[in-house]
Amino acid sequence: MGFRTKQVHAGVEPDPVTGAILTPIHQSTTFVQESVDDYLGRGYSYTRGGNPTVRALEEKLTALEGGHDTTAYGSGMAATVAVFLALLEQGDHIVVANVVYGGTYRFADRFLRKFGVDVDFADATDVEAIAAVMRPNTRLVFTESPANPTLKVTDLAAVSALCKERGTLHVTDNTFLTPYFQRPFEMGADLVIHSTTKFLDGHNATLGGVVVVNTPELQELVLFARISAGLIMSPMVAWLTLQGIKTLSDRMDRQSASAMTIAEHLQRHDKVGYVNYPGLPSHPQHELSRRQASGFGAMVCFEVAGGVEAGKKLMDAVELWSLAENLGSVESLITHPVTMTHASVPPKERAAAGITDGLIRLSVGLEDVEDLIDDLDRALERV
Ligand SMILES: Cc1ncc(COP(=O)(O)O)c(C=O)c1O
Repeated sequence: MGFRTKQVHAGVEPDPVTGAILTPIHQSTTFVQESVDDYLGRGYSYTRGGNPTVRALEEKLTALEGGHDTTAYGSGMAATVAVFLALLEQGDHIVVANVVYGGTYRFADRFLRKFGVDVDFADATDVEAIAAVMRPNTRLVFTESPANPTLKVTDLAAVSALCKERGTLHVTDNTFLTPYFQRPFEMGADLVIHSTTKFLDGHNATLGGVVVVNTPELQELVLFARISAGLIMSPMVAWLTLQGIKTLSDRMDRQSASAMTIAEHLQRHDKVGYVNYPGLPSHPQHELSRRQASGFGAMVCFEVAGGVEAGKKLMDAVELWSLAENLGSVESLITHPVTMTHASVPPKERAAAGITDGLIRLSVGLEDVEDLIDDLDRALERV
């Protein structure tokens, strides 16, 4: 079955009772047991452990990513935290890419260390840099590619091969490209995380996350962490996300095509310092991006030639673009990572990772690309 067919049909069937074509929202906390001895008679007992609407979303994600099974969470961060809770113990060591979503950085830095897990941040564009900090007790390597916000690209197959060689796990956050453009399991990853808040939902309507795993043993571990910590996604969020995913490929195709047009336009603009987009031949990992993904995504970042103050003026001057956190939605958003999404990364670490004060991040939506460019040009005239 092709991806587009799966994104519409996988995990969902017309309701056997009413024929409703959309999966019902099972907004029930508890499920009645047949008898004392038959705890999970119809598969569900209490929604913190599992829920039929949430299950439909999990089955769809498993089909799209090509893994063994999926668990869904109340946010992308809850998904990441569940993986850490499931896999790590005091005394373990982990390696995290030095460019990741700011919340992931913050949790590893502030909480994992507090609970006795050693953390090294490494430049994930260089597999040797990851290998150099690995230790015998390294339990997992965490990557995100393309990475938020600089759009650095990691060689996922090379990191997976390194992890296999050292007997450790490769966890990767696939939020920016989604399984439509990039399938990490085919490159050897062990766990794939998504913030479904972004492209999978696509409508700025929900906060959610998923963890897709490649073995039953890993599924058991994350499921146990989720029920113990109470991290599950709500049925309403699962239902909205199920509807969003049905148009994922069309949104990704259009938003990525617009991102390419905008990146090329900005690169030609004399008020723009530099542009980073994996689809541009000037991107340092352009060839790698071509090889390991079937699209370049809808995220673009750049700096205005006039520096930080000029960049701020631009972000305040745009009208069609909304100055806001989040990404991946049909609405185009403009973000200043240093004061918004990555404010929790210490300035020294930010500088080392290339997250400069003047960096501007665009999430390209579904509007007419000419209108988006006109708005940027108007704002650039004013800086
Ligand atoms: C790549 C990436 N992963 C994870 C997250 C966290 O997701 P959420 O905001 O749904 O908790 C984000 C949020 O921006 C993100 O960009």
